[in-house]
Amino acid sequence: MTTQQPGSRRRLLVIGIGAGDPDHLTLAAVKAIRRADVFLILGKGPEKSSLTDLRRAMLDEHARPGYRVAEGQDPWRDRSEQDRGSYTAAVHDWRSRRADVCERLILDELAPGETGAFLVWGDPALYDSTLAILDEIEDRGTVALDIEVIPGITSVQTLAARHRTTLNRVGRPIHITPARRLPEAATAHDGDTVVMLDAHESFTRLEGRDLWIYWGAYLGTPDELLISGRLADVADEIRHVRADARARHGWIMDTYLLRPVEPEDGPET
Ligand SMILES: C[S@@+](CC[C@H](N)C(=O)[O-])C[C@H]1O[C@@H](n2cnc3c(N)ncnc32)[C@H](O)[C@@H]1O
Repeated sequence: MTTQQPGSRRRLLVIGIGAGDPDHLTLAAVKAIRRADVFLILGKGPEKSSLTDLRRAMLDEHARPGYRVAEGQDPWRDRSEQDRGSYTAAVHDWRSRRADVCERLILDELAPGETGAFLVWGDPALYDSTLAILDEIEDRGTVALDIEVIPGITSVQTLAARHRTTLNRVGRPIHITPARRLPEAATAHDGDTVVMLDAHESFTRLEGRDLWIYWGAYLGTPDELLISGRLADVADEIRHVRADARARHGWIMDTYLLRPVEPEDGPET
C-alpha cells in the first residue's frame, strides 16, 4: 500500500444522468456537473457513440465554461455464452481492467484538490460498475478519493412512466433481474418482474405463461419504442420491431416489465 500525502486527495462525483432523456437530469445532477473541473469518460466504441454524444451535449449545456474531458478506452469484454461461475469471473476480470484505465485517468488527468466526475447512465446503483471500480481503485491505495454519489432516474422508472403503470401491484414484491436469470427469476415469487440486459429476447422463453408485458427500447430518446399487451399476443411484434431497430441503429437497449395476468384483478390494476 502506498501512503497518501496530506492534501493529495481528489474529489470524485458519480452522477446519475438518467437513461436517455436530457430532461431527466435532476437539479442535484446539474449542480454537481457545475462543480466538476474534469469529466472522466470510458469510450464505448463507434456503435454506442450516440450515448457519448448525449453526455457531451449535457456538458455543453450545464458544465462550467472551460470544462475538461478525459477519455479512456473501455477494455474489451468477453461476452461469450458462459455458465454462471465463469460469467461472474469474466465480469470481475473486466471490472479490474476498467479499474486500471480509470486509475490511470484519475492519476494523469485529475490533479489533487480538483473535482472530477463520472456521468453514469441511469442511476449508479442499478447494474452499473462505476462504484465497484472506484472501490477497487481505493483498495489499491495508489490514490486517495472522496467520492460522492448523485442519484439518477433509471430506465426502469422511465419504462413505468411511459406506460403509465406502476412497477408493483398492491402489497406485492417487484423483482429486478438480468435476462440471463429468466425464466427461473420470474417464477420464484408472486409479484412483477423487471428484466434488463436482454441480448436474446428472453421473454420468448416465457410464452407458455399468461403474462402482460410492458416493453420499451431507447427510452427517453427520440427513437423510443413502446409495446404492451398479453405476451402471447405481442411477442412476435416485439421480436420484429426489436430486430428491425437493432439492425438500423447497430445496437439496442430495452427493458420490460412482466406482470402475471390474474382473473380477479387483470393487468391494469
Ligand atoms: C448496464 S445497465 C444500466 C442501467 C442503468 N444504470 C439504469 O439505471 O437504468 C443497461 C441496461 O439498462 C437498460 N436500459 C438502460 N437505458 C435504457 C433505455 N434508454 N431504454 C431501455 N432500456 C435501457 C437495458 O436493459 C440495458 O440493457
